[in-house]
Amino acid sequence: MRHLLTGFEFTQDEYLDILDTAAAMKKDPKKYAHVLEGKSGAIMFEKPSLRTRTTFELAFYRLGGHGVYLDLQNGELGKRETIGDYSRNLCRWVDSLVGRVFSQRTLEELAQYGSVPVINALSDMYHPAQAMADYLTVREHLGKLQGVKLCYMGDGNNVTNSLLVAGAILGVNVDCCVPEGCGPDVQVFAKASEIAKEHGCQLRVFNDPKAVRADVLYTDTWVSMGDNTPLDSVKKKYMPYQINDALVASSGAQIVMHCLPAHRNYEITDEVMDGNKSVVFDEAENRLHIHMSVLSKLIKA
Ligand code: CP
Ligand code: NVA
Repeated sequence: MRHLLTGFEFTQDEYLDILDTAAAMKKDPKKYAHVLEGKSGAIMFEKPSLRTRTTFELAFYRLGGHGVYLDLQNGELGKRETIGDYSRNLCRWVDSLVGRVFSQRTLEELAQYGSVPVINALSDMYHPAQAMADYLTVREHLGKLQGVKLCYMGDGNNVTNSLLVAGAILGVNVDCCVPEGCGPDVQVFAKASEIAKEHGCQLRVFNDPKAVRADVLYTDTWVSMGDNTPLDSVKKKYMPYQINDALVASSGAQIVMHCLPAHRNYEITDEVMDGNKSVVFDEAENRLHIHMSVLSKLIKA
């Protein structure tokens, strides 16, 4: 049994297989309409979601299975009963657990006590299926992944960590241009850098936006869910890292990405988000195809 908890679990060949299957499913979804017939999943969200919730539910539906959405109306996971008991109950009924959680530890406990695949739908540390959908989008637009350079701008967070992990495995050069002290997780960066070496690519973190040269520019919110810092209070620190027309021009970027939701005119300007280099809604669409692919690989027939 395989889980998708961090994104480190899969080899390059397995990543490429997930991307290729997603591309095939996107082209001819009807062909896969019975792949998960009779199969189900619990889709658990401790935090808000538009894209991830919708696309996981639809992914089950399109594959002939069923996703049960649990919005945690009974409170935070682990409060009404232990996470272990929660997991052991669900595993008597469903074939997979999809979770968006405050703490990565919650997903690990679900996996530890459960008997079905656990899929990370965003935690404090990672957003692995997002990164898979993002690299599918890059490949669609640039025709390749190996040797491509992606530069992530802004706050080093869960999305940054996952772009580093998946990028290293897929042979993508990933730069992170972030304010001093706002980089990605140090341990994730070190582990991903070792993998990058094996795949002939490089990961870097630096602070100077003038040094950004990339095929792909990527950004995300400056304040992630679960952090109550007011966005305006960090504006001064992050504004130099905003993706705007000037940065798109000086970087040489061919496409601009954002996992969404966007805070327009904070981390990305209206002009760029609505401009002809923006592929943000392609990324959003590809979440569906990647989730279909991941579910089909992890849930056993
Ligand atoms: N990108 C993403 O995960 O969006 P949601 O928070 O709306 O699911
Ligand atoms: N870093 C963001 C991603 C949202 C999809 C957050 O965790 O809120």
